[in-house]
Amino acid sequence: MKKFFTLLLLCVCFLTPSHADEGMWLPSLIGERIKDMKRKGFKLSAEDIYSINKASMKDAVVQFGGGCTGEFVSGEGLLLTNHHCGYGSIQQLSSVEHDYLTDGFWAMSREQELPVPGLTVSLLVRMEDVTERINNGEKVSDIVKAAKTGEGYRASVEPMYYGNQYFLFVYQTYRDVRLVGAPPSSIGKFGGDTDNWIWPRHTGDFSIFRVYAGADNQPADYSKDNKPYQPKRHFAVSTKGVKEGDFTMIYGFPGNTQEYVTSDAVEYVAEVSDPMKIELRTQRLDIISAAQAEDVAVRIQYASKHASIANAWKKWQGEVMGLRRLKTVEKKQAYEREFAAWAASKPEYKTLLQDMSASYDKAKEAYYVRELFTESLGGIEALSLANTLVSMKDRLKGGTLYSDYVKTTHSRFMKNYSAAIDRKIAHAMLAEFLKRMPAEKIPAELTAAIEAKGGVAAYVDYLYDNTKITSDNFDSTALEGDPMAELATILMPMRREIAKVAYRNLSNIPDVEQWYRPYMRALREWDKERAFYPDANFTLRVAYGKVAGYEYADGEYHNPVTTIDGIIAKDDPNIYDYNIPQSLRDIYARKDYGRWASKIGDRESVAVCFLATNHTSGGNSGSPVINGKGELIGINFDRTWRSTMSDMEFDPTICRNISVDIRYVLFVIDRIGGASYLLDEMELK
Ligand code: ARG
Ligand code: GLU
Repeated sequence: MKKFFTLLLLCVCFLTPSHADEGMWLPSLIGERIKDMKRKGFKLSAEDIYSINKASMKDAVVQFGGGCTGEFVSGEGLLLTNHHCGYGSIQQLSSVEHDYLTDGFWAMSREQELPVPGLTVSLLVRMEDVTERINNGEKVSDIVKAAKTGEGYRASVEPMYYGNQYFLFVYQTYRDVRLVGAPPSSIGKFGGDTDNWIWPRHTGDFSIFRVYAGADNQPADYSKDNKPYQPKRHFAVSTKGVKEGDFTMIYGFPGNTQEYVTSDAVEYVAEVSDPMKIELRTQRLDIISAAQAEDVAVRIQYASKHASIANAWKKWQGEVMGLRRLKTVEKKQAYEREFAAWAASKPEYKTLLQDMSASYDKAKEAYYVRELFTESLGGIEALSLANTLVSMKDRLKGGTLYSDYVKTTHSRFMKNYSAAIDRKIAHAMLAEFLKRMPAEKIPAELTAAIEAKGGVAAYVDYLYDNTKITSDNFDSTALEGDPMAELATILMPMRREIAKVAYRNLSNIPDVEQWYRPYMRALREWDKERAFYPDANFTLRVAYGKVAGYEYADGEYHNPVTTIDGIIAKDDPNIYDYNIPQSLRDIYARKDYGRWASKIGDRESVAVCFLATNHTSGGNSGSPVINGKGELIGINFDRTWRSTMSDMEFDPTICRNISVDIRYVLFVIDRIGGASYLLDEMELK
């Protein structure tokens, strides 16, 4: 009886209709949510969010580069995104003489804005449900082709609900994008990896760009004659500030969630995949950190590598903790039992869960092999270089094209390379690969090569003692017979095998996915109370919620707003991540906040970051955070690490996204950058 009640309790919480603030909704269908949004404080209409007939908010939101979001804040193409989204561009434009990452960059006029070769932004022209057309036999390629009717148009058809619906997305891509401003990293990356995924947070994570167009406002290659792009819509900027309970909406491009996967998939993530990846990355990070602590040059050289390894590493730890805390596997199992009872009388769904589970059993190993290969051998830098050079050799067929390719790839690689670190990592990672990989998957040639040298450690030392691939004067002819290149060649067939399972996530493997389509359809027939939204797939979404703190631990409440006082409290010239610019110290000493001061609690300060309950994911970085009137109040840049299981289960009591307060952005532009002329083209409210 007791067990029955626990079960009932579990089911009841899981089935609660639309967890408060959970969901990432398709803008063209936002009409279905608008009542709920209005109840929570949204003052505008569905047409204001998305319209095909008139300018709407969607015209002010862009895909920035390959994986972020950005937003227009002026009629002249001025664009905001995160510092960590602009990071690559800022780095690309930097040199020893002009270190914009360290010092920041502020164009003082349009002429001083810096073109970023290769950087693009994409605007959504329209989206359209094409499910019927596809079901009637129209080919995706034809639909895509017919949609590309304008300059710079790009189109794709994306499945929603595992192919129960299909949407066409038509984008227009602008390719003349220029850097306008970036704070020094000591502001834009304040807190660095130490504070990443953490609250309280004090990062001024923003950068400023401008999109340029040809005379006709259409995309054009870079030209000094191009004109600032005039967006159909841009956001007005609120200077009124936020307080706990205020409505917030996020408009952006979340990348990848799996809210509807079965207990098998969650168990794999929480008990197999994440723990393996965390353990291997811990080893790599320990090796890198130790070397960094000994040598300042190495610290700088490996800063960006360390950051990107640590970012997902920390996120996965939060995900495992969250999934275990929420007992997501058990809850899903109970949910599946209920579903199975319902499905028992439905011939088309009767065996669905068993079929799915059987497919998982088969698919899981190949998926694990791919993940393990990537996380272990993929972390060995010299091997990755060797692999690139070996595979390009076949493609470019030797010749001068190839030797030029080798020269540029090689010199770029060597810029930030430490053979001592890499050797240590190779020792650890090859050993882990051999220990964890199912024996029959290990290439026989690899085993033979290792045995020939008398063991793993001796083999790795032999590789690093003899390879020429990481010597400064390496040229393409030396690849022949190089031991690192030989290892790359040995691993090539395995790599090819793995490339075949390069799917987005565990539910996206074709063998398994075929079952998700009917499963998803069945869930929607059965679980009528649940508010379904399609998993994130880097298409435009709306999430909404409110500014809110949360109970971090028993008796320990985390306030949703941080201030400049917190920056000063962390400030320490001896700690790299917390060493703020002197100009900020001076402003603080004089309390010279000007119009950016506000009353926070009982003191005068400047607001820096805030927490809210919006359901976001990777890709939402740089997304506009909007108030009930449709004005910009912040830029989204992170979640707390204990929120990250929201990619599989959203928990409204703890899941929080982190944004930089727009007033701090304005303060930094004005007081640190001295670029207040930029505020003149914004619509400040
Ligand atoms: N955690 C954020 C994201 O997933 C920010 C990452 C960049 N910041 C950093 N300190 N590494 O992308
Ligand atoms: N920082 C992430 C990004 O780059 C957003 C954080 C998250 O995963 O929510 O998109």
